[in-house]
Amino acid sequence: MTADQPRLRMRLRFGAFLLFVGCVFQAVADADRPPVAAIASAHPLATQAGMEILANGGNAFDAAVAVSAALAVVEPYSSGLGGGGFWLLHRARDGFEVMVDGREKAPLAAGRDLYLDVDGEVVPGLSVDGALAAGIPGEPAALDHIARHYGRLPLAHSLQPAIRLAREGFVVDAHYLKLAQFRQAALQNDPEAADIFLKDDAVPNAGYRIVQSDLADTLAAIARFGNAGFYRGPIARKLVDGVRADGGIWTLEDLAQYRVVEREPVQGEFQGLRITSAAPPSSGGVALAAMLNMLANFELHELDAATRTHVVIESMRRAYRDRSVFLGDPDFVAVPVERLISPGHAGRLAQSIQLDRATPSATLSGRDISTGGRDTTHFSILDGAGNRVAATLSINYPFGACVVPPGTGVLLNDEMDDFSAKPGVPNVYGLVGAEANAIEPGKRPLSSMSPTFVESEEGVAILGTPGGSRIITMVLLGILDQAAGNKPDSWVSLPRFHHQYLPDVVQHEADAFDADMVKSLIARGHTLKRLNAEYGNMQAIYWDRKTGQVYAASDPRGVGDARIGLFKRQ
Ligand code: GLY
Repeated sequence: MTADQPRLRMRLRFGAFLLFVGCVFQAVADADRPPVAAIASAHPLATQAGMEILANGGNAFDAAVAVSAALAVVEPYSSGLGGGGFWLLHRARDGFEVMVDGREKAPLAAGRDLYLDVDGEVVPGLSVDGALAAGIPGEPAALDHIARHYGRLPLAHSLQPAIRLAREGFVVDAHYLKLAQFRQAALQNDPEAADIFLKDDAVPNAGYRIVQSDLADTLAAIARFGNAGFYRGPIARKLVDGVRADGGIWTLEDLAQYRVVEREPVQGEFQGLRITSAAPPSSGGVALAAMLNMLANFELHELDAATRTHVVIESMRRAYRDRSVFLGDPDFVAVPVERLISPGHAGRLAQSIQLDRATPSATLSGRDISTGGRDTTHFSILDGAGNRVAATLSINYPFGACVVPPGTGVLLNDEMDDFSAKPGVPNVYGLVGAEANAIEPGKRPLSSMSPTFVESEEGVAILGTPGGSRIITMVLLGILDQAAGNKPDSWVSLPRFHHQYLPDVVQHEADAFDADMVKSLIARGHTLKRLNAEYGNMQAIYWDRKTGQVYAASDPRGVGDARIGLFKRQ
């Protein structure tokens, strides 16, 4: 959670390792190097794992390995070795930026009809619960790749905090209990998963400690053998045996063939801010750039609040329509990224926005959309050299497929549900997909995960969030809030609203709109859907280059932890 901290003003003397839990640190400004490091993640033990690695001389990339692996242990409902993600990296010494794509891949035996019955109808639940829902994991390969190519410490060192957490166990919190309750029935279907994540087949009580010895052994195998410790040898065999025993279709070849891909991030501009975000197979960077390009056609600060909100909603609608039609795995379909993020394309879309009325989605040509999952996790890291990481990781639905192949401790993802099982048929979120995102062997499912950097002469922001198809609009609202001059504690706690083209409704948190705003949006023709629950779990950092202040904040909706650490110069 974001903690209230006094502003600290001090001249730094490096050599010490100090930790500040909270949101603001100020030192003498140096535009090239932040005075301190910062980590914001969705779990205090993961933030602590990253800080430990920084204290041991690791850089932001080593810390990212440690935080990812720790989250795999203590946030098993969100991400893990059985899942994947996107790690956006910025290397300070030469400004090199890359997205490490560790997204899951469809098994080689998968085809477009995988989830259809003999009549060609989608079988409910098949792409969500059980081993057939699982794509080939990418996280272990990504951690090995990041450590080898960007880290300063051996992979084995950066994995130590996670191995310790798995062996010694962690105490469940209220968030865990809520999500275990939500997925209890599916967890009960798999004896191994029930044994690890439930107690006597029921949701444990608060204070219960979860020990994951098999997961510790799997992490230790990766620490010792790198990629080969997971994708080949005894662990690979146990994974394949467990998957096939549960009706899945993985083979040893699927695992042996898995590779991460380094992709050039998508970039955009907005009011002097340079936005760097996720490339396809995420839809995040493209949709963000498109929305910001559309909004650049309006003097947002001159509009009254209701008109401004209406224009933002209309930009969301149009960007998500493009997402539904054009986006998929770029290794399989031609994604016209340059056109979609061009100011010309956005200008034409912006022209169709009427200030006094909503555009019904049905009048925009296109196909329905697909979406990402409902859980997932994000963390942001800045080290004292100015290296940064924004990473969004997932096993899709809470607790993924709710299957653990015996003897591995690896909870399988159900990321296959991010494909469109059949054009026009809704997935688990009531949403439907298009041709570009159809299942093919070895293809990566379309994602909404949007790890993002926002940079100007003034400062650098690192942000992202879980939240399925709403991820992109949450990041958009965060960027607009930054452009308005606000800081991470505001971005992470903003009330949120979202439009995704179809269904043609504005979803919003209870406190997002006041009565006047509601009246004004309805008068323009919007259908509002007030959500019963809050959504998102944003983790954000901002380094103000002019003042030397570093801010870190964790979304008050979650149980995360944002910390600032003062380390020996890296
Ligand atoms: N499964 C969440 C996403 O990739 O969008």
